[in-house]
Amino acid sequence: MQSLRRTDSLESTLQNRLNHRRERGSLRKLACCSERVDFTSNDYLGLARSAELTRRIEDKLRATNASSPRNGSTGSRLLSGNSSWAEALEQKIATFHETESAILFNSGYDANFGALSALLANGDTVFYDELCHASMHDGIRLGKANAHPFKHNNPRHLEQRLARLRVQKMASNGSAASSATWIVVESLYSMNGDRAPLRELASVARRFDAHLFVDEAHATGIFGPSGAGIVQRLGLASEVDVRVHTFGKALGCHGAVVVGPRAVKQYLINFARPLIYSTALPPHSLAAIEAVYDLLPELDPARAELQKRVKFFRSVAEAHDLKSLLESESPIQALVVPEANSVCELAGKVQTDGFDVRPILSPTVPRGQERIRICLHAYNSEEEIRGLVLALKDRLEELGQ
Ligand SMILES: Cc1ncc(COP(=O)(O)O)c(C=O)c1O
Repeated sequence: MQSLRRTDSLESTLQNRLNHRRERGSLRKLACCSERVDFTSNDYLGLARSAELTRRIEDKLRATNASSPRNGSTGSRLLSGNSSWAEALEQKIATFHETESAILFNSGYDANFGALSALLANGDTVFYDELCHASMHDGIRLGKANAHPFKHNNPRHLEQRLARLRVQKMASNGSAASSATWIVVESLYSMNGDRAPLRELASVARRFDAHLFVDEAHATGIFGPSGAGIVQRLGLASEVDVRVHTFGKALGCHGAVVVGPRAVKQYLINFARPLIYSTALPPHSLAAIEAVYDLLPELDPARAELQKRVKFFRSVAEAHDLKSLLESESPIQALVVPEANSVCELAGKVQTDGFDVRPILSPTVPRGQERIRICLHAYNSEEEIRGLVLALKDRLEELGQ
């Protein structure tokens, strides 16, 4: 009886909180994958559904399991979960990304959260782009640095904030020699599809002696030499201190890696809690990650196809005067439709037209900037893209927008 009453009260407490979210129009729900045309997944190159990648993964697994069968990694990397395979794979990934070391994490969320919460020490200061992903916000929140946002993609604003910090430090006779300043950004923003001005940011970082941390989650596999990312495309590998690459988006599998100098790896092994206190990636994931990195240099045609789709989408959208589309030359396109109810209604209608698009609500994006996030893929046909644009246009008109 006692436990029944307690459960009841938990239920009503949680329902009250959920109702509050429902009233704000931002209640989240799980929706199963559909048979609709995919304009929502992060599988930009189609690797999650690639039979060729599956075959290569299976070959690798068969080869390693033949000598010692293993399904799980059996422990944290610091205990039984390490392997010479994981270490060799990390070295291979580090070389691919033109840096000294790499350390695997179980997801991009873990990588950002784990790395930032560990690296941002007491006395440090971090400046982060206001549109950084939740995993970065959470890592910054758990880290011990003084944290300040700067305006999205605005190096001038960042510079002003850094200059103010410098004056404050001088006024207090400098700070502890070991304190560091960090700049944290994404190279390609997940909800806008626009790129960070990395050259300018690197120059600001150099002038203010700050460390630059770049999340390449949505650029990995798509941009740069063999899909190595935007940092390498711009020749900035030696100027960016820490990078995060994720495998669950264009790379079509799962997990992530933090790449940078050897000291970063050693430091994370000692202080990154998601790495220390969680079971390491299983052999299947190692096989998938290795297979996809082997495949990346062969994917220039798919990358070119994807860019063609992006150009095609933009030209059809312009021809049909699709308003409120944010500027973007990437596979992520955002159609801003303020108000949760309006954007949900629009997404629902376009779904009934056969296209899988999802509304993105606050707090994932700022209130008033709710949007339909359209992900383009190398496997979307021109006919499908034209169909999507027409459906969006018609349905927006129905909603009086
Ligand atoms: C910019 C960015 N960083 C990190 C992540 C987290 O990556 P993962 O899905 O591998 O946890 C995401 C996922 O949506 C993202 O958009």
